[in-house]
Amino acid sequence: MSETVLPAHASASREAAIVAALGQRSVVLVGMMGAGKSTIGRRMAMRLRLPFIDADNEIEAAAGMSIPDIFEVHGEPHFRDGEARVIARLLDGGPILLATGGGAYMREDTRSRIRDKAISMWLKADADVILRRVRRRENRPLLKAADPAAIIAQLIETRHPVYAQTDITIDSRDVPQEKIVDEAIFALHEHMLRLRTSTLSEPTGDPLSPTP
Ligand code: S3P
Repeated sequence: MSETVLPAHASASREAAIVAALGQRSVVLVGMMGAGKSTIGRRMAMRLRLPFIDADNEIEAAAGMSIPDIFEVHGEPHFRDGEARVIARLLDGGPILLATGGGAYMREDTRSRIRDKAISMWLKADADVILRRVRRRENRPLLKAADPAAIIAQLIETRHPVYAQTDITIDSRDVPQEKIVDEAIFALHEHMLRLRTSTLSEPTGDPLSPTP
């Protein structure tokens, strides 16, 4: 994607235009564990001046226990139901910048809620990047296995075609985080412009119109 470096005021007005165009809709980050949803999401939220919420943290707070404990004590299906409920509640309180856990978007009901109430963005990372990042932490119950690389490969195979249903895809790779954030903001703005073109016939008073 080509992106021109803008003076600070131009970039700030792009961000303000995005927020105005979002209205009550949220921005939802989707993608595999280790794709950078929380770190990139937090930085995007600061730029857009939206509240940042990590769905995993909300689930832990609602359950009063950690995700590995929820998996161990109650099992994955129980976790998935709680996850869907928490995301539904958070989407009702938009606009927010929401980072979802890697499995959340795999549920059809959650996908359809996200479609209704948010703009979705897939942070797409390849297996090597994911593996390098998740090795640093022990908090992913799905990867507590003899061969995490095989599990990641299999999850990528089943999940990537579904993640591809999101509105926007950003290539998450090992470059400075602010570069990914810039690309994400740029792509979000482009997406909102495209949406406006396809839904609005009357351009006056539109927050995304270029300033004269
Ligand atoms: C999961 C990803 C985790 C967490 C849980 C299950 C998954 O979140 O929700 O361990 O199914 O990929 P992150 O994607 O934030 O690591």
